[in-house]
Amino acid sequence: MTGRMRTTAILAALMLVQPAWAQDATEAPAEASGEMPPPDAMADGSTPDEPMAEGETGGAEPAASDAEAAEGEATAGTETPTEEELEETAATAGVTPEQGATDAEAAEATAPEMATDLSGPDAFADIADEGERSVALFNEMGKVLQHPRCLNCHPVTGGPLQGDDMHPHMPPMIRGAADFGPDGMNCNTCHGAENVPFTTGEGSIPGHEPWSLAPVSMGWVGKSLGEICEQIKDPERNGGKDLEALYEHNAEDGLVGWGWEPGEGRTPAPGSQEIFGELTRAWIDTGAACPS
Ligand code: HEC
Ligand code: HEC
Repeated sequence: MTGRMRTTAILAALMLVQPAWAQDATEAPAEASGEMPPPDAMADGSTPDEPMAEGETGGAEPAASDAEAAEGEATAGTETPTEEELEETAATAGVTPEQGATDAEAAEATAPEMATDLSGPDAFADIADEGERSVALFNEMGKVLQHPRCLNCHPVTGGPLQGDDMHPHMPPMIRGAADFGPDGMNCNTCHGAENVPFTTGEGSIPGHEPWSLAPVSMGWVGKSLGEICEQIKDPERNGGKDLEALYEHNAEDGLVGWGWEPGEGRTPAPGSQEIFGELTRAWIDTGAACPS
């Protein structure tokens, strides 16, 4: 995708979604849908390099109904998909439509208060018992792992979440077969290599290369910190990583690093990636124990 085309795609996305944010969620969407192009309009004129065959755009719609089911609210400019369409997309995405709604609900019910500070390993040096120290170190790491900047991309069932309140992604977005969105409207249609500030109003579209959802086996939303701990140590579920690879991921990975540079309008993860890496190192060196 060329830079100019990317800009066009992003502008189109902005035109498409901005009224939905500006709008009070409880307001009826009739006003907005009268004025704004439906999601399909984007396929027609704005992204010539990402042809979206007719019918393919339907993939994004079931997520809308997930959000509606979760919040009891309507979504601007989105038609209600038929039951058949829902089943079809769910099959592609590997989830049932009902499941898509549960991430936002689970996040709301279980995510801890957003942490604003992060201590380095030294703060735990006087815990004499190594196992206890290890658990304390992981609890500190949890302030990052369970931050909205991370959880929003690590859902368990449906598509990505957005914002500090972890609401369903707007425009509606499903996981897709490759954790990369529906055919014809994958994550990179809108998310570029860098954060891009909105041309109108405050905020930005987050960006990083690559940009996709963490696979289901790496989903954390709704899980306890102990469960997340066991999961990220397990090579069967963490993408085949041993503890050293996990350390490297936490300390060096660019997508993890994005959590501290999330773009205008987003709260960064607490501390820094450097401290997060040091905590991971110390946790591994003390036996990588998990909270119960
Ligand atoms: C049609 C355009 C579009 C597509 C396609 C899209 N996004 Fe987004 N996404 C956005 C916009 C715009 C925002 C910023 C919304 C805001 O901040 O108000 C956003 C925000 C997000 C956020 C929120 C970050 C945070 O912590 O608040 C995540 C995570 C995200 N997208 C993930 C994805 C993933 C993963 C995919 C593919 C499966 C995807 N998006 C596909 C437009 C899109
Ligand atoms: C834009 C989406 C996105 C964001 C934001 C994101 N991740 Fe991920 N994460 C992924 C993807 C995709 C993978 C799988 C890639 C891989 O295994 O190399 C992954 C894998 C991981 C893993 C590997 C082990 C496992 O079982 O999950 C860890 C650890 C991780 N992320 C930590 C974080 C942390 C910490 C943050 C926030 C500071 C974060 N991620 C934010 C998409 C994201």
